[in-house]
Amino acid sequence: CGIFAYIGDRQAAALLIAALKRLEYRGYDSAGIGIHGGETGKPLKVRKKVGKVQNLDDDCANAGDSISGTLGIAHTRWATHGKPSDVNSHPHTTADKSIAVVHNGVVENYQTLKKQLSNKGYKFVSETDTELLAHLVRDIRNDMPEATWPQVVATALQHVEGAWGVAFLFEDEPDLMIGARKGSPLILGVGNGEYMLASDASAIVEHTKDVVYLREGELVEVHRSGYKVQEIQQIVHSLKESLSPRSAREGQSVENPIVRLELSLDQIEKAGYPHFMLKEIFDQPNSLRNGMRGRIYNRQDKPDSWQIKLGGLEKALEAPEREGKSAIDIMASARRLIICACGTSWHSGLIAKYVLENLAKIPVEVEYASEFRYRNPVIGKDDVIIAISQSGETADTLEAIKMAKKNNAITVGIVNVVGSSIARETDAGIYLHAGPEIGVASTKAFTGQVIALLMVALRLATERGVMSDEVLDSYCEALNALPDKLESWFKDLNDQIKVISKYFRLASNALFSGCGIHFPVALEGALKLKEISYIHAEGFPAAEIRHGALTLIRNFVPVVCIAMKSDPAYEQVKAQISEFRAKDAAVIVLTDQENNDFNGIASFVIRCPATKLELEPLIVAIPLQLLSYYIADERGCSIDQPRNLAKSVTVE
Ligand code: G6P
Repeated sequence: CGIFAYIGDRQAAALLIAALKRLEYRGYDSAGIGIHGGETGKPLKVRKKVGKVQNLDDDCANAGDSISGTLGIAHTRWATHGKPSDVNSHPHTTADKSIAVVHNGVVENYQTLKKQLSNKGYKFVSETDTELLAHLVRDIRNDMPEATWPQVVATALQHVEGAWGVAFLFEDEPDLMIGARKGSPLILGVGNGEYMLASDASAIVEHTKDVVYLREGELVEVHRSGYKVQEIQQIVHSLKESLSPRSAREGQSVENPIVRLELSLDQIEKAGYPHFMLKEIFDQPNSLRNGMRGRIYNRQDKPDSWQIKLGGLEKALEAPEREGKSAIDIMASARRLIICACGTSWHSGLIAKYVLENLAKIPVEVEYASEFRYRNPVIGKDDVIIAISQSGETADTLEAIKMAKKNNAITVGIVNVVGSSIARETDAGIYLHAGPEIGVASTKAFTGQVIALLMVALRLATERGVMSDEVLDSYCEALNALPDKLESWFKDLNDQIKVISKYFRLASNALFSGCGIHFPVALEGALKLKEISYIHAEGFPAAEIRHGALTLIRNFVPVVCIAMKSDPAYEQVKAQISEFRAKDAAVIVLTDQENNDFNGIASFVIRCPATKLELEPLIVAIPLQLLSYYIADERGCSIDQPRNLAKSVTVE
């Protein structure tokens, strides 16, 4: 999602919309603005529209004076709670439109806070977690009429668990906006008699190059005459220490340096990375955190133990003949699960088959959606069809779902784009929350799909009673530890892959091998290389190479072998790698951190941090993404938009 806010002497509406267009690459399912007209005693002016920012722009073009004002907040959304719709768009307000807020992030204790506020009579009109921030601030204001707005907002935010970057407006303050952050970025632009708040510097840079980066847990109050940054904890602490809010009023301001932005606009949108693909590869620790947020949590009865809950699959299904059962109930007792997908999503389906069969003991079939829909597959009401799709718009996957529904099967979507056709068409589903993926070659959506399906497998395993609490705990702990593990690995890995890539600039063929759960990762590695570097590449189950592709193994042909010790066929793979080496192939081995078995045999050894077997694809896939990225870069290819390919294939 993207946030922008403005205070100064220029008309805000046009600036807000221009900024939203800049931020649109961060989320584009709906957008909105909230403006203070300059007089107190009048509701804040709010306009919001589902769809592209252009829809909001068209709407505002007809709004005339009703959106005049020089103070405003704006938001472009990528939904987490609630489908994209006008009412779910930001800003959210109190019923009297005296407080307006825009928010990036997730309120994890949303249900608890919502219940408390509803009990006090607050009426919620949207399905979002953000709306409660407006009501919560109003409620605290009512309890502390003496307090300043920064004190009220700081107190409110102390109750909010999760991640937030927020900006607030107040009807009774025509010269104040408040921003705050925890876990979601927020930047203050310092202009000449005007200030902006934004989640991303790309929206600020055309107005000023001087910015202040808010740090975790900081709040900034901004007036036309200046700004003040304080720590939220400090504000709340001094409130508690003093007799009244008034005596606590002057909190310590913290010194945040003004930084001069030196990046071009294009670089800023890519967060300084040369391509979206590289940015998205590096996003993965965060996108995985977002995918798990609020879904893996401590049990109330046993605080040291973990539990998985997947909201979108736990609700009663609408079809009356399903007698109030949820998708989880139906999946847990299904005859089999059939996964339909295309491209990279099909590869995550193959990994999911392995994981679902291994952990939840349910038979799974994985189908290319395009093949499935044109056959006469035998499907019935005891089958569940799972569609995996980043975009949620791939025509073949959508048609496969429609066909399954005609045959009375239950359909489940594992989708990234909220509100997309597949998300709407399926009976139930979960979103990846990986954020927008711009590069045509899928990276963070792939790992997002794998982690989503891993959570489904673990949830089904407990539902079916085939996994003990202790084993579930060990998986949840491994999942929770994964993002940090990736983060600390990235720097060294990136340097190593850059070096390796230089050797393969001129390759015209490459082979990828892996067994078991790593076979689909080998397929995905080969697909990535084909997609963006235009080098012909094929993935094989290790042993299958003997049945044909061995003829291709000769001088300097790069062979990328996944050889993790967890692999039941590890010894065979090891022997095979020696054989490749004897044929002078350039072997790149991906193996465990401490494994020295390939020293002197492989041309390069990439060492992967340890985790549980079923999570290994999430680790092993990353060097392969980087490898294809840097090889394509060496070859000067158009990485984010490879020739002839589309991000989403909506034609049949
Ligand atoms: C296109 C994209 C791929 C993607 C595939 C399936 O080919 O270029 O990156 O894996 O479509 O797309 P979906 O949005 O359904 O995951």
